[in-house]
Amino acid sequence: MWDQRYAVDEYIYGTEPNSFLAEHAEMLRGPVLSLAEGEGRNGVFLASLGLKVHGVDGSNVGLVKAQALARSRGVEIQTEVADLGVFEPVANYYGSVVSIFAHLPSAIREKLYPLVERCLKPSGIILLEAYSEDQLVCDTGGPKDADMLMTLAKVEQEFPNCEPILLRKLEREVCEGIYHNGVASVVQFIGRKKP
Ligand SMILES: C[S@@+](CC[C@H](N)C(=O)[O-])C[C@H]1O[C@@H](n2cnc3c(N)ncnc32)[C@H](O)[C@@H]1O
Repeated sequence: MWDQRYAVDEYIYGTEPNSFLAEHAEMLRGPVLSLAEGEGRNGVFLASLGLKVHGVDGSNVGLVKAQALARSRGVEIQTEVADLGVFEPVANYYGSVVSIFAHLPSAIREKLYPLVERCLKPSGIILLEAYSEDQLVCDTGGPKDADMLMTLAKVEQEFPNCEPILLRKLEREVCEGIYHNGVASVVQFIGRKKP
């Protein structure tokens, strides 16, 4: 499905970074693991700030576009095609993990998020933005499956080893490509790995 969606010339989520990420990027340290990197807009932005970036996504078509975007901006990012359901990041290695609109079924999150916490160095940062369950009734983007959407309680339960620095649900205008367009309900989370 994602390979098909990305198989067009345009960048369907745009080439500019997610705005929540851009607002808080100064908190991030490298190396950065970017989950569900897609067409590269977020990883390329972070690389342009001088951060080492490892972007992982299931779509080879998306990541080929990510590498093209990186070349066009004169930066380098590492990309890896992998299913996040079986992906095992190196433990205690990353300064930050970024997860932007990486909507995954709970069965995958249950396996992946403990590994995300494990892959962070002490005091490492997780930054996540996802559509909330309230987005189910909106037609401005996101999957129509509550299991893949977030709530504040899910974040707290699924990242028990990260102290929230910021955790909120809000409605905001998301104008990030043709599939994410309009006022939407999102969950935003920045957490620091507990010592
Ligand atoms: C809504 S897009 C967001 C892309 C990017 N984070 C952005 O903000 O532009 C969701 C991404 O999740 C990826 N994805 C979904 N399920 C996945 C899985 N099980 N393993 C790896 N990638 C997955 C898709 O390939 C797609 O690139």
